[in-house]
Amino acid sequence: MSTLSMTELEQRYDGESHDWTHKVERLGFGRAYRHLLEQILSGYTLPPHARVLDAGVGTGLFTASLAKTTAATRADRSGRIAFHGVDISAEMLKEARTELNSSGINLHTTQGSVERLPYADETFDLVISAHVLEHLDRPEDALSEFERVLKPNGTLVIVSTQNGIWGRKITREWGVELISAESLLYMSLVAGLTQFKRVPFGGAGLPHFASYAATARKPACNSTSVHRISRCPVRERATGGEGCARRMPLALPTDGGVTRPLHEARRIPSAGITPRSPRSAATRKLCW
Ligand SMILES: C[S@@+](CC[C@H](N)C(=O)[O-])C[C@H]1O[C@@H](n2cnc3c(N)ncnc32)[C@H](O)[C@@H]1O
Repeated sequence: MSTLSMTELEQRYDGESHDWTHKVERLGFGRAYRHLLEQILSGYTLPPHARVLDAGVGTGLFTASLAKTTAATRADRSGRIAFHGVDISAEMLKEARTELNSSGINLHTTQGSVERLPYADETFDLVISAHVLEHLDRPEDALSEFERVLKPNGTLVIVSTQNGIWGRKITREWGVELISAESLLYMSLVAGLTQFKRVPFGGAGLPHFASYAATARKPACNSTSVHRISRCPVRERATGGEGCARRMPLALPTDGGVTRPLHEARRIPSAGITPRSPRSAATRKLCW
């Protein structure tokens, strides 16, 4: 659980907003974001008038990086991309608008939480979110929301802090709780996402050691093979309802039909998961 309340986090980010971009650019994250998105979007066609959401947009560095990719530039020529950003910090959003507007990017901002997104179902073609999930008490709620607001076949891109020297520093300084890639995979599946893939991040610089990246997709749901996940066998065996800290293999069907072990799962959502979407976890259909 994050040690800062949402109000404390909001105030802290409000205070950090004026030089946030400069700080993260200096650490190499701007370059790492640009390279990551170029790589992911190289085989992807953004539709004309695509809608993109940056969830926990901060001062807009991830969106600015996206706007510079070849795919976004190409898509923008055939119909302008609508960039949206949501964040709990009003000051971070103000900086994001100023910085992106000065680069000719019109960012629509909304103050709100990624755990309860202020958008209708199936609004976005692409949802991107960097270094936000680890701040949340219930990251599974955010993943469920990302799935809800994505259009069928829409893509999710996540960057999250990983365990290591940098991860421990961030944990101490910001009271975040790190999420392993395996937990993210599990939460994505429970949220109804598919095609989860880890993607190389950060080259040889600090971002590579500090964070990892992954993508997932919302299925079109025209598959003949439909599975249902309504309970979590790992969580059932865990004590105290806090998720399972033990190494415990769990066979999960994946898009390739292969089973994968799930190690060191943390904060695994369970039957108690209450998605904000009108569909309940028990009736949610997962297609892969
Ligand atoms: C580490 S910063 C990352 C900002 C930006 N994504 C980037 O990579 O430069 C985390 C951001 O998440 C926002 N945030 C934290 N919890 C949030 C929540 N529950 N809903 C929306 N935004 C949140 C913070 O206000 C902050 O702007």
